[in-house]
Amino acid sequence: MSKTGNITFTIIKPGAVSNEHIGDILQKVTNAGFWIAAMKYIKLSNKQAEEFYRVHSERPFYNDLVKFMTSGPIVVAVLEKDNAVDDYRKLIGATDPSKAEEGTIRKLFAESIERNAVHGSDSNDNAIIESNFFFSRSERFTKDGDFLTFSPCGC
Ligand code: CMP
Repeated sequence: MSKTGNITFTIIKPGAVSNEHIGDILQKVTNAGFWIAAMKYIKLSNKQAEEFYRVHSERPFYNDLVKFMTSGPIVVAVLEKDNAVDDYRKLIGATDPSKAEEGTIRKLFAESIERNAVHGSDSNDNAIIESNFFFSRSERFTKDGDFLTFSPCGC
């Protein structure tokens, strides 16, 4: 059982996948102490991308974002660690890679603000919503090999 605050959700985006950075990125994630609780290699449909990024639907970059996110395969994953959301955002760096700190995943592997290598949840609530968007309870695991349950929803 995971308590709230211990998970975040990430996407390795099409640019980082096609540039063959999946291994480099996962290495940095595990070296930083995150447990990969769930992971899939998939290609988003337009409908899935539009729904996942619906919060940005009024933004000028929305159509390009959906187009990019459906342009090739992605890796989606649930990551577990104390203080996961904040620690992962520090590890990946600023949304715009030109503003990201040296050594962060986006500084190392992103091409631009649109093609910024990875997504990371911005809050504990969104980490749960985004994880549930892609994974059922039977697809998420603790380090001990049990199924991972998110509290307080128990889903
Ligand atoms: P992500 O963390 O996946 O969340 C929303 C995405 O929209 C973000 O990463 C960027 O890839 C993209 N994005 C955010 N702001 C801009 C912007 N000003 N111009 C273009 N794309 C943006």
